[in-house]
Amino acid sequence: MTEIENRVNMDEIVSLCKRRGFIFQSSEIYGGLAGAWDYGPLGVEMKNNIKRAWWKTTVQERDDMVGMDAAILMHPQVWVASGHVETFADPMVDCRNCQARLRADEIEEDRCPNCGAVGQFTEARMFNLLFKTFAGPVENEAGVVYLRPETAQGMFVNFENVLTSSRRKLPFGIAQIGKSFRNEVNPRHFIFRTREFEQMEIEFFVRPEEAPRWHEYWMEERIRWYTDLGLRPDYLRLTAHAPEDLAHYAAACSDVEYLFPMGWLELEGIANRRDFDLQQHSKHSGVTLTYFDEERGEHVVPFIIEPSAGVDRPLLAFIVDAYREEEVRGEKRVLLKLDPRLAPIKVAVLPLSRNEKLVPTAREVWDMLRPHFMTSYDDAQSIGRRYRRQDEVGTPFCVTVDFDTLEDRAVTIRERDSMDQVRVPLTGLVEALRERLPPC
Ligand code: GAP
Repeated sequence: MTEIENRVNMDEIVSLCKRRGFIFQSSEIYGGLAGAWDYGPLGVEMKNNIKRAWWKTTVQERDDMVGMDAAILMHPQVWVASGHVETFADPMVDCRNCQARLRADEIEEDRCPNCGAVGQFTEARMFNLLFKTFAGPVENEAGVVYLRPETAQGMFVNFENVLTSSRRKLPFGIAQIGKSFRNEVNPRHFIFRTREFEQMEIEFFVRPEEAPRWHEYWMEERIRWYTDLGLRPDYLRLTAHAPEDLAHYAAACSDVEYLFPMGWLELEGIANRRDFDLQQHSKHSGVTLTYFDEERGEHVVPFIIEPSAGVDRPLLAFIVDAYREEEVRGEKRVLLKLDPRLAPIKVAVLPLSRNEKLVPTAREVWDMLRPHFMTSYDDAQSIGRRYRRQDEVGTPFCVTVDFDTLEDRAVTIRERDSMDQVRVPLTGLVEALRERLPPC
């Protein structure tokens, strides 16, 4: 087996994702909707696995973090206080030649990336990214609500509730996973920049003087999380924002970037948000959001360190990074070398053929495994083709039921990366797979 040295291009990834049921264009039969994508049977499994892995390291395994799940719709004043109504905007231009609407800060050498025309842009104007809608039957200003553009604010406005209900002491964090919405001027690069996406955000509350140290700590932790789940360290880097590029709330911010086929792009931002949000919400709501430091006998407004990741961008990075092409006995083999914790299907049950004598035993094996692992069953085409199909979606183990199984009540476990095979008795199959699959 030799690995063919190449880097996959995005067209191949988009095609694989559609063909194998990871990701479909939203409303495809109506021509699609820009900036929206649907996760299919394999995509939803993988997305859930990413979220589970994040929740496990972020909430379950830590003694200083709790989770929550805030509503997407919030009081409109939240977004006034946070600064989003005023400042959450991108500069937008139109190309006079092809009418494409683009982000001004992404245009190089005054050339339209859509039609190639040079110097044809309108003056840049700021475009607010908040999605607006109305709560209740009357569509007037009083009914305006926003679809949240970040999950973060749900955690800030619940600071007091979480603090008192869970009796936390500084430093502690709140973690949340959920959908966010931004009316992006120019959604692009498949699921990289969309108008509806998911975020996994931590708001970590610390004493103000300890903020720089915790910022460093979270940068290291988050890089470790990505590499532990298989991303190549060489394709990951941290890039600090220049002071003039910082968001209005941040004292410092570094992005975790991944080397996608289209270049280095952000997976996650890790910001020191200072006490901006708690101060703003105190001011606008009239409710004091402070922490009483018993050791010092004083009230403090904690600083917040915020590691804010998407779900969709990491999912794309995990797929791109895992993609391999190999030559095996003169034939090309495509495989996703996904960490088993992220693989959508953990075990595929494959009868050697559709022979009627094999099918009842193969089904019995499938019934036995389903309560323990995410499985699939495939009996169409040759066994070699079926192994390839599972390799291509990253299934770590195939269990093959053959004619010997009917005699010896044993099956073959085939491992994805090495293609090594071992024979195990059916009585020990669940245990044998459990030993090989890390818990998630
Ligand atoms: N609360 C801070 C915040 O939202 P951000 O850098 O704007 O910070 C954090 O977003 C992460 O959310 C990004 O690193 C990215 O992974 C994801 N994200 C943001 N906008 C996105 C979009 N339009 N499409 C997909 N993911 C997006």
